[in-house]
Amino acid sequence: MCGIVGYVGSDKALPILIEGMRQLEYRGYDSAGVAVAEGGSLTVVRRAGELTKLEQALDGNGMEGTLGIGHTRWATHGPPTDGNAHPHRDCTGNIAVVHNGIIENHEALRAALQAEGHELSSETDTEVVAHLLEGAVAQRPRPLLDAVIEVIAMLEGAFGLVCIHAEQPDSIIAVRKDSPIIVGVPDGSGIVASGIPALLPHTRDVIPLDNRQVAEIKAGSVSLFDFDGEPAEPRVVHVEWDISAAEKGGYEDFMLKEIFEQPEAVRNAMRGRVDLSGRILLDEVSWDADVLNDITKIVVVACGTSYHSGMAAKHAIEHYTRIPVELDLASEFRYRDPVLDDRSLVIGIAQSGETADTLAAVRFAKDMGAKVVAVTNVVGSSITRDADAVLFTHCGPEIGVAATKTFLGQLVALNLFALYLAQERGAMAEEKVAETIAAMHELPAQIEEVLALHDDIQRAAKSLSDVSDVLFIGRGVGMAVAMEGALKLKEISYIHAEGYAAGELKHGAIALIEEGVPVVAVMTGPSLYEKMMANVQEVRARGADTILIAPRGDERAKALATELFEIPLTKPLLTPILDTIPLQLLAYYAAKERGLSPDKPRNLAKSVTVE
Ligand code: F6R
Repeated sequence: MCGIVGYVGSDKALPILIEGMRQLEYRGYDSAGVAVAEGGSLTVVRRAGELTKLEQALDGNGMEGTLGIGHTRWATHGPPTDGNAHPHRDCTGNIAVVHNGIIENHEALRAALQAEGHELSSETDTEVVAHLLEGAVAQRPRPLLDAVIEVIAMLEGAFGLVCIHAEQPDSIIAVRKDSPIIVGVPDGSGIVASGIPALLPHTRDVIPLDNRQVAEIKAGSVSLFDFDGEPAEPRVVHVEWDISAAEKGGYEDFMLKEIFEQPEAVRNAMRGRVDLSGRILLDEVSWDADVLNDITKIVVVACGTSYHSGMAAKHAIEHYTRIPVELDLASEFRYRDPVLDDRSLVIGIAQSGETADTLAAVRFAKDMGAKVVAVTNVVGSSITRDADAVLFTHCGPEIGVAATKTFLGQLVALNLFALYLAQERGAMAEEKVAETIAAMHELPAQIEEVLALHDDIQRAAKSLSDVSDVLFIGRGVGMAVAMEGALKLKEISYIHAEGYAAGELKHGAIALIEEGVPVVAVMTGPSLYEKMMANVQEVRARGADTILIAPRGDERAKALATELFEIPLTKPLLTPILDTIPLQLLAYYAAKERGLSPDKPRNLAKSVTVE
């Protein structure tokens, strides 16, 4: 996610902003910028790339101002360029805004602003805020605080906002709506940031804004208000953590933090893509009905964890749309002489957007005339340039090498895409689409329930720490979960694990089962439940220890389980979004039990840019 820093006081703002941005670097970003007020005007410098690029651009700039804001941007709307980097300004150049989150109604606001004559220079959703503030401040003129309160009422979505006005140089206005903002007022100064690490060099007493609060920060004081402008009491929290613990938000590792961020990741992957009636709006795939109706086959290409989300997507797309789907490992695809034409749609899935094999597969498909949709978490990544359309997963940066929240983001984006195709081609009744969307809206709360099992999962992981092999079995979409569970375990705990179609056991792998071999069975899918039961009985009869991922309240599973993780009920095709979580945690705790570092497994990289 992006990082925000703001400073007002008697010291030079620039070094404090840069230091704060450095403390937030771990969150991932692809461009950075600062705005400093001095002598009634603002100086803004922004650069794509690393903070050092920004520092080089600032070298010798001599900004002396004592009020400023800075931002490290993780691109969501518009690629990571100098012009899309924050801060963004209004037409007068006197107001500067930095923003974390997504303004969902930015397109409508942009159109209205342009109709009024505003000139917007970036592709971002954020810039509309600066121009809306321009209008609101100019009305009387009046304090930035009042203008901000007026403008946030027009915004939909999630926003952590920090704004300054060159002609009102004694204050910073900050807003929190579904995106964290924290304030500190040490030693006659005021500092604001989106993460505690940026404040820790200055103070350990911080004021986290509550949701839907606005702060007016001055040197040595802060006043809080609700969205109606009513005053609110600040809540001061004393931080005991050191900086590295603060970066991880109190979690021991990024992987664990990212697993626990999954309710938010799923919410973000759905945000702005569904209307109130449950209809899907995928502006990204704004192809004519003819094009969508013309598709005769779909091929999904991906690697590793992304391949597993593709496996689950194949079931969803075929079920909802009745379009046949092929699934290929991207590294195999172009060597098998695939049959494609201009009525084929290829879906390339890559959280990084840089995986060499997936890029090559996508280019190969384009050369054969196919249309390409990319599913990725990284705006501006290579796959976005090669694709005809891009579905972003909007999960925020993932620091841990093992993909967790991006996997869930992919599952959500792919399910939405499958439903969208069915909706647009008339393959599914509107009520059915809306019913599935309603089930998807329940997922974040259900994910919280699954995460609450973490203590039990940690205990179960202890028994895995000294085994040499684990078998993961499933059927249908449960097989994709089994394969993903096995991959997670092997990549971070280095325990050998196999993901297997449960029905295939008797054709060979069952020979591996003997007393004490752990078998993880994913058995939440109702239609294949009895068949999974039979497989679990088979392995138990041969002495296996069974770890079952089963529907909540399932007494029969309880009777057969060495360890049981009960999962809330959802639609069968959505079960991977819940069932994967205990397996992520199992892998994480097994790695910890073995004294390994889950964030940086040996021999692996976050982007695999070689074939
Ligand atoms: C596993 C993992 C990898 C990636 C694979 C593809 O946790 O992260 O298996 O899924 O390297 O990466 P992307 O999705 O970037 O193409």
